[in-house]
Amino acid sequence: MTNNIDPCTLVLFGASGNLARVKLYPGLFRLDLLGRLPADLKILAVGRQVVDLDAWRADIKSMLDAKFKKGYDPQVFERFIARNFYHANPPTDPDAFNKLKATLSDTQTFPQNLAYFLSVRPVDFAPVVESLANVGLTQEDKYWRRVVIEKPFGTDLPSAKALQAAITKHLKESQIYRIDHYLGKSALQNILLQRFTNTVLEPIWNNQYIDHVQITNTEMLGVGDRTQFYDSTGALRDMLQSHILQTLALTAMELPKDLSPEGVRDAKIKVLEQIRPIPVNELEKHAFRAQYSAGEINGEKVPGYLEELGNPDSVVETYAALKLFIDNPRWQGVPFYIRTAKRLHEADTRISIRFKKAPLQINDQDQNWLIIGIQPRECIKLEIQSKIPGLDVQTRTIQLDAANRLDSDDSVDAYEALLLNLMQGDNSNYLHISEAEAQWRLVDPVVKAWAEDKRPVHQYPAGSRDPEASKVIFEHQDQFWRYSIALGGDKYSH
Ligand SMILES: NC(=O)c1ccc[n+]([C@@H]2O[C@H](COP(=O)([O-])OP(=O)(O)OC[C@H]3O[C@@H](n4cnc5c(N)ncnc54)[C@H](OP(=O)(O)O)[C@@H]3O)[C@@H](O)[C@H]2O)c1
Repeated sequence: MTNNIDPCTLVLFGASGNLARVKLYPGLFRLDLLGRLPADLKILAVGRQVVDLDAWRADIKSMLDAKFKKGYDPQVFERFIARNFYHANPPTDPDAFNKLKATLSDTQTFPQNLAYFLSVRPVDFAPVVESLANVGLTQEDKYWRRVVIEKPFGTDLPSAKALQAAITKHLKESQIYRIDHYLGKSALQNILLQRFTNTVLEPIWNNQYIDHVQITNTEMLGVGDRTQFYDSTGALRDMLQSHILQTLALTAMELPKDLSPEGVRDAKIKVLEQIRPIPVNELEKHAFRAQYSAGEINGEKVPGYLEELGNPDSVVETYAALKLFIDNPRWQGVPFYIRTAKRLHEADTRISIRFKKAPLQINDQDQNWLIIGIQPRECIKLEIQSKIPGLDVQTRTIQLDAANRLDSDDSVDAYEALLLNLMQGDNSNYLHISEAEAQWRLVDPVVKAWAEDKRPVHQYPAGSRDPEASKVIFEHQDQFWRYSIALGGDKYSH
Protein backbone atom coordinates (compact mmCIF):
# COMPACT_ATOMS: atom_id res chain seq x y z
CA MET A 1 0.00 0.00 0.00
CA THR A 2 1.60 3.30 -1.01
CA ASN A 3 -1.27 5.71 -0.37
CA ASN A 4 -1.25 7.33 -3.83
CA ILE A 5 1.97 9.22 -3.24
CA ASP A 6 3.41 10.93 -6.28
CA PRO A 7 6.95 9.97 -7.24
CA CYS A 8 9.04 12.45 -5.28
CA THR A 9 12.44 13.37 -3.91
CA LEU A 10 12.87 14.19 -0.25
CA VAL A 11 15.67 16.72 0.09
CA LEU A 12 16.91 16.58 3.64
CA PHE A 13 18.91 19.54 4.97
CA GLY A 14 20.73 18.79 8.23
CA ALA A 15 20.80 15.07 7.47
CA SER A 16 23.76 14.42 9.76
CA GLY A 17 22.05 16.11 12.73
CA ASN A 18 20.45 14.63 15.80
CA LEU A 19 16.86 14.76 14.56
CA ALA A 20 17.71 13.12 11.24
CA ARG A 21 19.70 10.35 12.90
CA VAL A 22 17.23 9.55 15.64
CA LYS A 23 13.89 10.19 13.94
CA LEU A 24 13.95 10.93 10.21
CA TYR A 25 16.10 8.14 8.74
CA PRO A 26 14.74 5.47 11.09
CA GLY A 27 11.22 6.80 10.38
CA LEU A 28 11.68 6.66 6.61
CA PHE A 29 13.13 3.17 6.89
CA ARG A 30 10.15 2.02 8.98
CA LEU A 31 7.80 3.39 6.32
CA ASP A 32 9.73 1.36 3.76
CA LEU A 33 9.44 -1.76 5.94
CA LEU A 34 5.68 -1.16 6.12
CA GLY A 35 5.52 -0.85 2.33
CA ARG A 36 4.34 2.76 2.59
CA LEU A 37 7.01 4.43 0.46
CA PRO A 38 6.43 4.77 -3.28
CA ALA A 39 8.84 2.67 -5.35
CA ASP A 40 10.38 5.79 -6.88
CA LEU A 41 10.95 7.84 -3.72
CA LYS A 42 14.52 9.16 -3.51
CA ILE A 43 16.18 10.81 -0.52
CA LEU A 44 18.88 13.41 -1.11
CA ALA A 45 20.82 14.44 1.99
CA VAL A 46 22.28 17.93 1.85
CA GLY A 47 25.12 18.84 4.21
CA ARG A 48 28.04 21.21 4.61
CA GLN A 49 30.67 18.48 4.55
CA VAL A 50 31.95 16.66 1.49
CA VAL A 51 31.08 13.00 2.04
CA ASP A 52 31.25 10.28 -0.59
CA LEU A 53 28.16 8.22 -1.28
CA ASP A 54 29.50 4.95 0.15
CA ALA A 55 30.50 6.66 3.39
CA TRP A 56 27.12 8.37 3.60
CA ARG A 57 25.24 5.11 3.06
CA ALA A 58 27.42 3.47 5.72
CA ASP A 59 26.47 6.31 8.06
CA ILE A 60 22.77 5.71 7.37
CA LYS A 61 23.29 2.04 8.18
CA SER A 62 24.81 3.04 11.52
CA MET A 63 21.70 5.17 12.26
CA LEU A 64 19.45 2.19 11.52
CA ASP A 65 21.63 -0.22 13.49
CA ALA A 66 21.40 2.10 16.49
CA LYS A 67 17.60 2.23 16.24
CA PHE A 68 16.68 -1.32 15.22
CA LYS A 69 18.73 -3.30 17.68
CA LYS A 70 16.92 -6.56 16.90
CA GLY A 71 17.93 -6.30 13.24
CA TYR A 72 15.87 -5.70 10.10
CA ASP A 73 14.92 -7.22 6.78
CA PRO A 74 18.08 -7.13 4.58
CA GLN A 75 16.05 -6.94 1.37
CA VAL A 76 14.18 -3.85 2.51
CA PHE A 77 17.49 -2.42 3.67
CA GLU A 78 18.98 -2.87 0.17
CA ARG A 79 15.94 -1.19 -1.33
CA PHE A 80 16.09 1.64 1.21
CA ILE A 81 19.80 2.30 0.93
CA ALA A 82 19.55 2.49 -2.87
CA ARG A 83 17.10 5.39 -2.48
CA ASN A 84 19.73 7.48 -0.73
CA PHE A 85 22.13 10.09 -2.14
CA TYR A 86 24.29 12.87 -0.75
CA HIS A 87 24.98 16.38 -1.96
CA ALA A 88 27.65 18.61 -0.39
CA ASN A 89 26.56 22.22 0.05
CA PRO A 90 29.52 24.07 1.62
CA PRO A 91 28.42 27.42 3.11
CA THR A 92 31.49 29.10 1.57
CA ASP A 93 30.49 28.20 -2.00
CA PRO A 94 28.40 31.03 -3.55
CA ASP A 95 27.30 28.66 -6.30
CA ALA A 96 26.17 25.89 -3.90
CA PHE A 97 22.45 26.05 -4.63
CA ASN A 98 23.00 26.15 -8.41
CA LYS A 99 25.01 22.97 -7.96
CA LEU A 100 22.14 21.48 -5.94
CA LYS A 101 19.81 22.39 -8.79
CA ALA A 102 22.15 20.68 -11.24
CA THR A 103 22.21 17.54 -9.09
CA LEU A 104 18.41 17.48 -8.87
CA SER A 105 18.05 18.03 -12.63
CA ASP A 106 19.14 14.42 -13.16
CA THR A 107 15.57 13.30 -13.82
CA GLN A 108 16.65 9.67 -14.29
CA THR A 109 17.59 9.58 -10.62
CA PHE A 110 15.42 12.22 -8.95
CA PRO A 111 11.64 12.54 -9.35
CA GLN A 112 10.85 16.22 -9.77
CA ASN A 113 8.21 16.61 -7.06
CA LEU A 114 10.41 17.97 -4.29
CA ALA A 115 9.86 18.00 -0.53
CA TYR A 116 12.54 19.91 1.38
CA PHE A 117 12.88 19.00 5.04
CA LEU A 118 14.75 21.78 6.88
CA SER A 119 16.20 19.94 9.86
CA VAL A 120 18.64 22.78 10.43
CA ARG A 121 19.08 25.55 12.98
CA PRO A 122 16.07 27.87 13.14
CA VAL A 123 18.24 30.81 12.01
CA ASP A 124 18.82 28.92 8.76
CA PHE A 125 15.12 28.34 7.85
CA ALA A 126 14.63 31.61 5.96
CA PRO A 127 18.08 31.70 4.27
CA VAL A 128 17.66 28.14 2.95
CA VAL A 129 14.20 28.92 1.55
CA GLU A 130 15.56 32.06 -0.09
CA SER A 131 18.53 30.23 -1.60
CA LEU A 132 16.24 27.52 -2.98
CA ALA A 133 13.92 30.16 -4.44
CA ASN A 134 16.78 32.13 -6.00
CA VAL A 135 17.67 29.18 -8.18
CA GLY A 136 14.03 28.39 -9.01
CA LEU A 137 13.78 25.31 -6.80
CA THR A 138 10.58 26.37 -4.98
CA GLN A 139 8.59 27.18 -8.08
CA GLU A 140 5.60 24.93 -8.72
CA ASP A 141 4.54 24.35 -12.31
CA LYS A 142 4.27 20.76 -13.45
CA TYR A 143 5.57 19.48 -10.12
CA TRP A 144 4.88 20.29 -6.49
CA ARG A 145 7.42 21.84 -4.10
CA ARG A 146 6.88 21.57 -0.33
CA VAL A 147 8.98 22.86 2.55
CA VAL A 148 8.97 21.47 6.09
CA ILE A 149 9.97 23.97 8.76
CA GLU A 150 11.04 22.39 12.02
CA LYS A 151 10.07 23.65 15.46
CA PRO A 152 10.27 26.36 16.71
CA PHE A 153 8.55 28.65 14.22
CA GLY A 154 9.95 31.85 15.72
CA THR A 155 10.73 32.52 19.35
CA ASP A 156 7.95 35.09 19.84
CA LEU A 157 5.25 36.74 17.74
CA PRO A 158 7.49 39.31 16.01
CA SER A 159 10.09 36.69 15.03
CA ALA A 160 7.36 34.29 13.84
CA LYS A 161 5.91 37.08 11.71
CA ALA A 162 9.37 37.94 10.37
CA LEU A 163 10.02 34.30 9.45
CA GLN A 164 6.60 34.08 7.84
CA ALA A 165 7.24 37.27 5.83
CA ALA A 166 10.62 35.95 4.68
CA ILE A 167 9.36 32.57 3.51
CA THR A 168 6.09 33.76 1.97
CA LYS A 169 8.12 35.91 -0.44
CA HIS A 170 8.80 32.58 -2.08
CA LEU A 171 6.18 30.09 -0.90
CA LYS A 172 2.40 29.83 -0.79
CA GLU A 173 0.81 28.72 2.50
CA SER A 174 -0.09 25.39 0.87
CA GLN A 175 3.64 24.73 0.30
CA ILE A 176 4.62 25.29 3.96
CA TYR A 177 4.57 22.40 6.48
CA ARG A 178 5.27 23.70 10.01
CA ILE A 179 6.09 20.91 12.44
CA ASP A 180 4.57 20.36 15.84
CA HIS A 181 5.45 16.71 16.16
CA TYR A 182 2.73 16.13 18.79
CA LEU A 183 0.23 16.38 15.92
CA GLY A 184 1.80 13.26 14.41
CA LYS A 185 0.95 11.25 17.53
CA SER A 186 -1.93 8.86 17.18
CA ALA A 187 -3.03 9.74 20.73
CA LEU A 188 -3.47 13.40 19.72
CA GLN A 189 -5.32 12.52 16.53
CA ASN A 190 -7.58 10.34 18.64
CA ILE A 191 -8.83 13.27 20.74
CA LEU A 192 -10.85 14.68 17.87
CA LEU A 193 -12.15 11.27 16.82
CA GLN A 194 -12.99 10.08 20.32
CA ARG A 195 -14.84 13.29 21.10
CA PHE A 196 -16.98 13.39 18.00
CA THR A 197 -17.54 9.73 17.10
CA ASN A 198 -19.19 9.03 20.48
CA THR A 199 -22.66 10.31 21.21
CA VAL A 200 -22.14 10.09 24.96
CA LEU A 201 -19.31 12.61 25.12
CA GLU A 202 -20.44 15.62 23.09
CA PRO A 203 -23.54 16.52 25.18
CA ILE A 204 -21.47 16.84 28.39
CA TRP A 205 -18.43 18.50 26.81
CA ASN A 206 -19.23 22.04 27.90
CA ASN A 207 -19.53 24.49 30.78
CA GLN A 208 -22.85 23.07 31.90
CA TYR A 209 -21.15 19.86 33.07
CA ILE A 210 -17.42 20.52 33.21
CA ASP A 211 -15.85 22.16 36.26
CA HIS A 212 -12.39 22.55 34.77
CA VAL A 213 -9.85 20.92 32.44
CA GLN A 214 -6.19 20.15 33.15
CA ILE A 215 -3.71 19.46 30.38
CA THR A 216 -0.50 18.20 31.82
CA ASN A 217 2.94 17.17 30.65
CA THR A 218 5.38 16.17 33.36
CA GLU A 219 8.78 14.55 33.06
CA MET A 220 11.12 12.97 35.56
CA LEU A 221 14.09 13.89 33.37
CA GLY A 222 15.99 17.10 33.90
CA VAL A 223 17.44 19.33 31.19
CA GLY A 224 20.42 16.98 30.77
CA ASP A 225 23.13 18.30 28.46
CA ARG A 226 20.79 20.84 26.83
CA THR A 227 21.27 23.48 29.55
CA GLN A 228 22.24 26.33 27.20
CA PHE A 229 19.36 25.64 24.81
CA TYR A 230 16.96 25.27 27.71
CA ASP A 231 18.05 28.43 29.43
CA SER A 232 17.34 30.41 26.27
CA THR A 233 13.90 28.81 25.91
CA GLY A 234 12.25 27.72 29.18
CA ALA A 235 9.34 25.39 29.85
CA LEU A 236 6.66 27.83 28.72
CA ARG A 237 8.06 28.26 25.21
CA ASP A 238 9.42 24.74 24.88
CA MET A 239 6.20 22.87 25.76
CA LEU A 240 3.18 25.01 26.61
CA GLN A 241 3.34 27.40 23.63
CA SER A 242 3.38 24.52 21.19
CA HIS A 243 2.45 20.95 22.13
CA ILE A 244 0.18 21.71 25.07
CA LEU A 245 -1.75 24.48 23.33
CA GLN A 246 -2.27 22.16 20.37
CA THR A 247 -3.59 19.51 22.77
CA LEU A 248 -5.89 22.14 24.25
CA ALA A 249 -7.12 23.13 20.78
CA LEU A 250 -8.07 19.52 19.99
CA THR A 251 -9.76 19.17 23.38
CA ALA A 252 -11.78 22.37 23.11
CA MET A 253 -12.46 22.88 19.37
CA GLU A 254 -15.92 22.73 17.84
CA LEU A 255 -16.87 19.94 15.43
CA PRO A 256 -14.99 20.72 12.20
CA LYS A 257 -17.10 21.08 9.07
CA ASP A 258 -15.27 18.00 7.74
CA LEU A 259 -12.01 16.14 8.28
CA SER A 260 -10.21 17.94 5.45
CA PRO A 261 -6.99 19.78 6.39
CA GLU A 262 -8.86 23.09 6.05
CA GLY A 263 -11.80 21.87 8.14
CA VAL A 264 -9.65 20.66 11.03
CA ARG A 265 -7.24 23.58 11.00
CA ASP A 266 -10.04 26.19 10.76
CA ALA A 267 -11.72 24.76 13.87
CA LYS A 268 -8.41 24.75 15.78
CA ILE A 269 -7.53 28.29 14.72
CA LYS A 270 -10.95 29.48 15.85
CA VAL A 271 -10.65 28.12 19.37
CA LEU A 272 -7.03 29.22 19.78
CA GLU A 273 -8.08 32.76 18.84
CA GLN A 274 -10.90 32.62 21.40
CA ILE A 275 -8.52 32.08 24.33
CA ARG A 276 -8.70 35.19 26.49
CA PRO A 277 -5.38 37.10 26.68
CA ILE A 278 -3.63 36.52 30.02
CA PRO A 279 -3.87 39.72 32.11
CA VAL A 280 -0.30 40.77 32.88
CA ASN A 281 -1.46 43.19 35.57
CA GLU A 282 -2.58 40.20 37.67
CA LEU A 283 -0.19 37.62 36.29
CA GLU A 284 0.35 35.83 39.61
CA LYS A 285 -3.29 34.64 39.58
CA HIS A 286 -2.91 33.19 36.07
CA ALA A 287 0.66 32.00 35.70
CA PHE A 288 3.13 30.23 37.97
CA ARG A 289 6.75 29.28 37.36
CA ALA A 290 9.38 27.40 39.34
CA GLN A 291 12.75 25.66 39.02
CA TYR A 292 13.77 22.25 40.30
CA SER A 293 16.35 22.17 43.05
CA ALA A 294 18.49 19.18 44.06
CA GLY A 295 16.46 16.13 45.00
CA GLU A 296 15.93 12.44 44.33
CA ILE A 297 14.61 10.65 41.26
CA ASN A 298 14.07 6.89 41.54
CA GLY A 299 16.22 6.85 44.67
CA GLU A 300 19.12 8.66 42.98
CA LYS A 301 20.33 12.06 44.03
CA VAL A 302 20.20 14.63 41.22
CA PRO A 303 21.40 18.25 41.10
CA GLY A 304 19.18 21.29 40.78
CA TYR A 305 18.69 23.29 37.57
CA LEU A 306 20.83 26.26 38.64
CA GLU A 307 23.71 23.94 39.60
CA GLU A 308 23.50 22.14 36.26
CA LEU A 309 23.43 25.45 34.45
CA GLY A 310 26.24 26.95 36.52
CA ASN A 311 24.40 30.24 36.76
CA PRO A 312 22.70 30.99 40.11
CA ASP A 313 20.96 34.05 38.65
CA SER A 314 18.90 32.38 35.93
CA VAL A 315 15.14 32.97 36.25
CA VAL A 316 14.27 30.52 33.47
CA GLU A 317 11.48 28.14 34.51
CA THR A 318 11.53 24.33 34.45
CA TYR A 319 7.93 24.33 35.70
CA ALA A 320 5.22 26.46 34.09
CA ALA A 321 1.49 26.51 34.72
CA LEU A 322 -1.14 28.77 33.17
CA LYS A 323 -4.83 29.30 33.76
CA LEU A 324 -6.71 30.01 30.55
CA PHE A 325 -10.31 30.83 29.68
CA ILE A 326 -11.94 30.38 26.31
CA ASP A 327 -14.47 33.05 25.43
CA ASN A 328 -17.15 31.12 23.59
CA PRO A 329 -20.55 29.74 24.61
CA ARG A 330 -19.24 26.20 25.15
CA TRP A 331 -16.44 27.12 27.54
CA GLN A 332 -17.42 30.42 29.17
CA GLY A 333 -16.31 30.27 32.83
CA VAL A 334 -14.41 26.94 32.61
CA PRO A 335 -10.73 27.25 33.62
CA PHE A 336 -8.19 25.31 31.56
CA TYR A 337 -5.08 24.69 33.65
CA ILE A 338 -2.13 23.76 31.49
CA ARG A 339 1.20 22.82 32.98
CA THR A 340 4.54 21.28 32.18
CA ALA A 341 7.44 20.38 34.41
CA LYS A 342 10.77 18.68 34.45
CA ARG A 343 11.95 16.51 37.33
CA LEU A 344 8.52 15.98 38.83
CA HIS A 345 7.59 12.75 40.66
CA GLU A 346 6.01 11.17 37.55
CA ALA A 347 6.34 11.28 33.78
CA ASP A 348 2.92 11.58 32.22
CA THR A 349 1.02 13.49 29.56
CA ARG A 350 -2.75 13.57 29.85
CA ILE A 351 -5.97 15.53 29.70
CA SER A 352 -7.91 15.44 32.97
CA ILE A 353 -11.47 16.70 32.96
CA ARG A 354 -13.30 17.25 36.23
CA PHE A 355 -17.07 17.38 36.13
CA LYS A 356 -19.33 19.51 38.30
CA LYS A 357 -20.90 18.35 41.55
CA ALA A 358 -23.52 15.65 41.13
CA PRO A 359 -27.10 16.47 42.29
CA LEU A 360 -26.90 13.86 45.04
CA GLN A 361 -24.03 14.03 47.54
CA ILE A 362 -23.80 10.92 49.75
CA ASN A 363 -20.52 11.31 51.54
CA ASP A 364 -17.45 13.41 50.96
CA GLN A 365 -17.31 12.07 47.44
CA ASP A 366 -15.16 13.32 44.64
CA GLN A 367 -16.58 14.64 41.44
CA ASN A 368 -16.40 12.60 38.23
CA TRP A 369 -13.15 12.70 36.32
CA LEU A 370 -12.56 11.74 32.70
CA ILE A 371 -8.91 11.25 31.88
CA ILE A 372 -7.42 10.84 28.44
CA GLY A 373 -3.89 9.46 28.68
CA ILE A 374 -1.50 10.55 25.92
CA GLN A 375 1.78 9.04 27.12
CA PRO A 376 3.17 6.76 28.35
CA ARG A 377 -0.23 5.04 28.38
CA GLU A 378 -2.84 5.83 25.70
CA CYS A 379 -6.10 5.31 27.52
CA ILE A 380 -9.44 6.75 28.52
CA LYS A 381 -10.65 6.50 32.12
CA LEU A 382 -13.87 7.55 33.71
CA GLU A 383 -14.24 7.77 37.46
CA ILE A 384 -17.76 7.40 38.79
CA GLN A 385 -19.44 6.87 42.15
CA SER A 386 -20.87 3.50 43.03
CA LYS A 387 -22.60 2.12 46.13
CA ILE A 388 -20.41 0.09 48.43
CA PRO A 389 -22.32 -3.21 48.79
CA GLY A 390 -23.55 -3.68 52.33
CA LEU A 391 -25.98 -2.34 54.86
CA ASP A 392 -24.90 1.29 54.73
CA VAL A 393 -25.58 3.93 52.12
CA GLN A 394 -22.08 4.83 51.11
CA THR A 395 -20.37 5.29 47.77
CA ARG A 396 -16.84 4.85 46.50
CA THR A 397 -15.12 5.86 43.31
CA ILE A 398 -14.72 3.17 40.69
CA GLN A 399 -12.87 3.50 37.46
CA LEU A 400 -13.79 2.47 33.94
CA ASP A 401 -10.39 2.17 32.35
CA ALA A 402 -9.87 1.31 28.70
CA ALA A 403 -6.71 1.23 26.63
CA ASN A 404 -6.79 3.33 23.50
CA ARG A 405 -3.82 1.31 22.28
CA LEU A 406 -3.74 -2.47 22.33
CA ASP A 407 -0.50 -4.46 22.44
CA SER A 408 -1.23 -5.76 18.95
CA ASP A 409 -1.62 -2.26 17.43
CA ASP A 410 0.98 -0.74 15.14
CA SER A 411 3.29 1.55 16.96
CA VAL A 412 3.98 4.43 14.59
CA ASP A 413 6.32 7.24 15.55
CA ALA A 414 4.96 10.77 15.12
CA TYR A 415 7.64 11.59 12.55
CA GLU A 416 6.70 8.56 10.45
CA ALA A 417 3.11 9.79 10.25
CA LEU A 418 4.22 13.34 9.48
CA LEU A 419 6.66 12.25 6.76
CA LEU A 420 3.92 10.22 5.12
CA ASN A 421 1.49 13.17 5.33
CA LEU A 422 4.13 15.40 3.75
CA MET A 423 4.53 13.11 0.76
CA GLN A 424 0.74 12.78 0.47
CA GLY A 425 0.30 16.57 0.50
CA ASP A 426 -1.87 16.41 3.62
CA ASN A 427 -0.97 19.28 5.95
CA SER A 428 -3.78 18.79 8.48
CA ASN A 429 -1.27 17.60 11.06
CA TYR A 430 1.03 20.54 10.45
CA LEU A 431 0.54 24.03 11.90
CA HIS A 432 -1.17 26.79 9.97
CA ILE A 433 0.49 30.19 10.41
CA SER A 434 -2.61 31.48 12.23
CA GLU A 435 -2.17 28.74 14.86
CA ALA A 436 1.52 29.54 15.37
CA GLU A 437 0.70 33.25 15.67
CA ALA A 438 -2.24 32.76 18.06
CA GLN A 439 -0.02 30.62 20.31
CA TRP A 440 2.78 33.21 20.41
CA ARG A 441 0.29 36.05 20.93
CA LEU A 442 -1.01 34.26 24.00
CA VAL A 443 2.29 33.40 25.72
CA ASP A 444 4.47 36.36 24.70
CA PRO A 445 3.30 38.71 27.49
CA VAL A 446 4.03 36.02 30.11
CA VAL A 447 7.44 35.21 28.65
CA LYS A 448 8.29 38.91 28.68
CA ALA A 449 7.02 39.54 32.22
CA TRP A 450 8.88 36.52 33.58
CA ALA A 451 12.12 37.47 31.82
CA GLU A 452 11.96 40.97 33.31
CA ASP A 453 11.23 39.75 36.82
CA LYS A 454 14.68 38.93 38.21
CA ARG A 455 13.58 37.91 41.71
CA PRO A 456 14.67 34.37 42.65
CA VAL A 457 12.29 31.80 41.22
CA HIS A 458 10.32 29.40 43.43
CA GLN A 459 12.18 26.08 43.91
CA TYR A 460 10.78 22.54 44.07
CA PRO A 461 12.93 19.53 44.96
CA ALA A 462 13.55 17.16 42.04
CA GLY A 463 11.20 14.19 42.36
CA SER A 464 8.53 16.10 44.27
CA ARG A 465 4.94 16.93 43.33
CA ASP A 466 3.77 20.33 42.18
CA PRO A 467 5.00 23.17 44.37
CA GLU A 468 2.37 24.09 46.94
CA ALA A 469 2.58 27.71 45.81
CA SER A 470 1.39 26.76 42.31
CA LYS A 471 -2.15 26.38 43.68
CA VAL A 472 -2.41 30.15 43.61
CA ILE A 473 -3.75 29.93 40.06
CA PHE A 474 -6.79 27.80 40.97
CA GLU A 475 -10.16 29.51 40.64
CA HIS A 476 -11.75 27.55 43.49
CA GLN A 477 -10.40 26.20 46.75
CA ASP A 478 -11.62 22.69 46.02
CA GLN A 479 -9.49 22.40 42.88
CA PHE A 480 -6.19 20.52 42.97
CA TRP A 481 -3.59 19.11 40.63
CA ARG A 482 -4.71 15.78 39.32
CA TYR A 483 -2.14 12.98 39.10
CA SER A 484 -2.21 9.75 37.19
CA ILE A 485 -1.97 7.38 40.15
CA ALA A 486 -4.37 4.46 40.00
CA LEU A 487 -7.53 4.37 41.99
CA GLY A 488 -7.08 3.76 45.68
CA GLY A 489 -3.79 5.63 45.63
CA ASP A 490 -3.26 9.21 46.60
CA LYS A 491 -4.16 10.98 43.41
CA TYR A 492 -4.33 14.47 44.82
CA SER A 493 -1.69 17.04 45.46
CA HIS A 494 -2.97 17.71 48.96
N1 LIG B 1 16.60 16.90 17.83
C1 LIG B 1 15.34 16.93 18.18
O1 LIG B 1 14.82 16.00 18.79
C2 LIG B 1 14.47 18.11 17.80
C3 LIG B 1 13.25 18.27 18.46
C4 LIG B 1 12.45 19.35 18.10
C5 LIG B 1 12.87 20.22 17.13
N2 LIG B 1 14.07 20.05 16.51
C6 LIG B 1 14.47 21.00 15.48
O2 LIG B 1 14.98 20.29 14.37
C7 LIG B 1 16.06 20.99 13.77
C8 LIG B 1 17.28 20.10 13.73
O3 LIG B 1 17.60 19.73 15.05
P1 LIG B 1 18.88 18.84 15.40
O4 LIG B 1 18.79 18.52 16.83
O5 LIG B 1 19.02 17.75 14.41
O6 LIG B 1 20.04 19.90 15.17
P2 LIG B 1 21.61 19.70 15.08
O7 LIG B 1 21.98 18.28 15.29
O8 LIG B 1 22.26 20.71 15.95
O9 LIG B 1 21.94 20.18 13.61
C9 LIG B 1 21.26 19.82 12.45
C10 LIG B 1 22.14 20.13 11.27
O10 LIG B 1 22.31 21.52 11.08
C11 LIG B 1 23.59 21.76 10.50
N3 LIG B 1 24.33 22.72 11.35
C12 LIG B 1 24.64 22.56 12.65
N4 LIG B 1 25.37 23.61 13.08
C13 LIG B 1 25.49 24.44 12.04
C14 LIG B 1 26.14 25.69 11.83
N5 LIG B 1 26.80 26.28 12.81
N6 LIG B 1 26.03 26.25 10.61
C15 LIG B 1 25.34 25.67 9.63
N7 LIG B 1 24.76 24.47 9.75
C16 LIG B 1 24.82 23.88 10.94
C17 LIG B 1 24.33 20.44 10.46
O11 LIG B 1 24.20 19.90 9.17
P3 LIG B 1 25.44 19.71 8.15
O12 LIG B 1 26.71 19.86 8.91
O13 LIG B 1 25.23 18.34 7.60
O14 LIG B 1 25.23 20.77 7.15
C18 LIG B 1 23.54 19.59 11.41
O15 LIG B 1 23.54 18.24 11.05
C19 LIG B 1 16.24 22.27 14.59
O16 LIG B 1 15.51 23.31 13.98
C20 LIG B 1 15.57 21.93 15.93
O17 LIG B 1 15.06 23.09 16.55
C21 LIG B 1 14.87 19.02 16.84
